[in-house]
Amino acid sequence: MGYSDVYAAWAADPEGWWMDQARAIHWDRFPEIALSHDGTTWFPDGLTNTCHNAVDRHADGGRATQAALIHDSPVTGTKETITYAELKDRCARLAGALRARGVEKGDRVVIYMPMVPEAIVAMLACTRIGAIHSVVFGGFAASELASRIDDATPKAVIAGSCGIEPGRIVAYKPLLDEAIEQATHKPEFCIVFQREQGPADLVEGRDVEWHAAQEGVAPADCLPVEGDHPCYILYTSGTTGQPKGVVRPTGGHLVALNWTMKAVYNVDPGEVFWAASDVGWVVGHSYICYAPLIHGNTSVVFEGKPVGTPDPSTFWRVIAEHGVKSFFTAPTAFRAIRKEDPQATFLEGHDISCLRALYLAGERADPDTITWAEGVMGVPVYDHWWQTESGWPMVANPTGIEALPVKIGSPTVAMPGYEVHVLDEAGAEMARGELGSIAVKLPLPPGTLPTLWQADDRYRAAYLERFDGYYNTGDAGMMDEDGYLWIMSRTDDVINVAGHRLSTGLMEEVLATHPDVAECAVIGVKDPLKGQLPMGFVTLQKGTGTSHEDIAAACVRLVRDKIGPVAAFKHCVVVERLPKTRSGKILRKTMAQIADGEAVKTPATIDDPAILEEIGGRIGTLGYPK
Ligand code: COA
Ligand code: AMP
Repeated sequence: MGYSDVYAAWAADPEGWWMDQARAIHWDRFPEIALSHDGTTWFPDGLTNTCHNAVDRHADGGRATQAALIHDSPVTGTKETITYAELKDRCARLAGALRARGVEKGDRVVIYMPMVPEAIVAMLACTRIGAIHSVVFGGFAASELASRIDDATPKAVIAGSCGIEPGRIVAYKPLLDEAIEQATHKPEFCIVFQREQGPADLVEGRDVEWHAAQEGVAPADCLPVEGDHPCYILYTSGTTGQPKGVVRPTGGHLVALNWTMKAVYNVDPGEVFWAASDVGWVVGHSYICYAPLIHGNTSVVFEGKPVGTPDPSTFWRVIAEHGVKSFFTAPTAFRAIRKEDPQATFLEGHDISCLRALYLAGERADPDTITWAEGVMGVPVYDHWWQTESGWPMVANPTGIEALPVKIGSPTVAMPGYEVHVLDEAGAEMARGELGSIAVKLPLPPGTLPTLWQADDRYRAAYLERFDGYYNTGDAGMMDEDGYLWIMSRTDDVINVAGHRLSTGLMEEVLATHPDVAECAVIGVKDPLKGQLPMGFVTLQKGTGTSHEDIAAACVRLVRDKIGPVAAFKHCVVVERLPKTRSGKILRKTMAQIADGEAVKTPATIDDPAILEEIGGRIGTLGYPK
């Protein structure tokens, strides 16, 4: 069967089609209902366990000695292979330690860890006992961690003592201590994984060391949970400063992710798969941890960067050394390699003939990067499009079913489960080739979000109310005559920096707290390496004595301290006024057009067109447009 037959089979009977896919998963009670009556969750009456499907069934079913995880860490100079049998043992022991300290089904556990296998063990151990994990990316600052702790109200936190960035050790534990101090909700205990590169001081009575926590504790078995029981919450950026807690139910997650490993990534069980991302992002959840393990693959857990750890040969080495068959990363990573090694001389001596294909997602894949990667690697490069909310590819090239012709710049076609539409302002279908908002006809397929954590109204307002009967993706684009989708931009204030999704609204909220700042605006500007970078504009309160340079520098520090280094907020200027419409709306889009060097049509509603010239001049001092 080719792609169109598979898509047609799904479209003819979506619930029956997903019930068939559900048979590839182990159920303690096979579901009788595919989709809940309200159309929000899948397999609600099934009983299953994520850790059992990802670990135990392979460990006990012929894959005991197969590598489940390969940790390759150029930043520490270490490598470790963990078999399925060992992974089962580690998960069961940590799950036992959590349970012994009172963590039960439905309790939340926040995980704040670097790219070590223990992060994966922590995630799986939670699902083993039905606890709901929420992983927070290590590049976020204490206050972001605090806001997630307050929203998820975890019983426990599992943290690493430190992360390792090129040239510096990032002490995680002081950030955790500060976050708990700031948060209104206090977790009952913290389990701390000590790393020799930066051990942490433990708070007596609250913190317990990783191994000590497991001593003398009975390992925990897998607890079957309902198909709609949340497996995890993952916070992502929205328009406002408050992050959105995407909820991922257990049953649909297992079924959908398992299906994608062959259909999209074209790997068979037993083969090595590598997603170079971080467990703090959805790519890390779905394609470092869950999908490869559920499918019985070997997953590479990489702690390093594409360049500088130690040089641009690292990706080639990892692919060759571990026999990677399918490789997934963000386009930024390849732009970074190309910038340092345009002729790919660092590829010499690394036999990457094991690799079948490269998959790119997380941000727009620019044609130059795709062509370069294809040229140097000698394998097809497939762009695909999805988001935290979907949890798995919405639009992709279904290479494991049928490799469709690649149109460079398009992530290809809708996957079964997704009826993708391009709509105009009023919700009417746009003609092929015309730009509009990208929306998915409800119901969403298994594995996607049914709601936001304890914020159902916000979920509806953010995603469902814009177009009746559709999920609004927040992206704009068009569909061509062949049904290929083309992603153009976001329709909200979310920007994408080095494949990381960030909220300019949050940055504005932080800037507004500076005592000298009267008004501010943050925009995303095009950047040749990271795709986009944030740029801030502030106006000052009257009578401020401090120099403009000092205030701008203080604003940069403030965003780093409050949001974290991952915000990559390094450009900030003081301006006399911000360009606004006569009704007072800041013209962020016009400012972004100026910064990107696009032709700017002065909006008819602008209150004072002369401001645009000042803004253009200030952007010029920052070296933009690039
Ligand atoms: N813990 C603490 N700090 C972190 C961190 C973590 N887990 N991850 C990143 N940071 C810091 C970085 O050290 C950097 O700090 P700096 O301002 O002091 O230099 C800052 O956050 C910005 O990080 P990033 O935007 O990733 O820039 P970078 O210069 O460190 O690396 C790339 C640039 C392109 C090499 C890197 O972003 C990359 O490999 N990206 C593509 C792959 C990817 O992970 N995509 C994610 C989604 S698929
Ligand atoms: P995240 O939720 O962090 O995975 O970010 C999802 C967002 O990244 C999407 O809504 C898009 O804006 C963008 N994105 C992801 N994949 C692609 C792609 N292949 N092409 C263009 N943009 C993408």
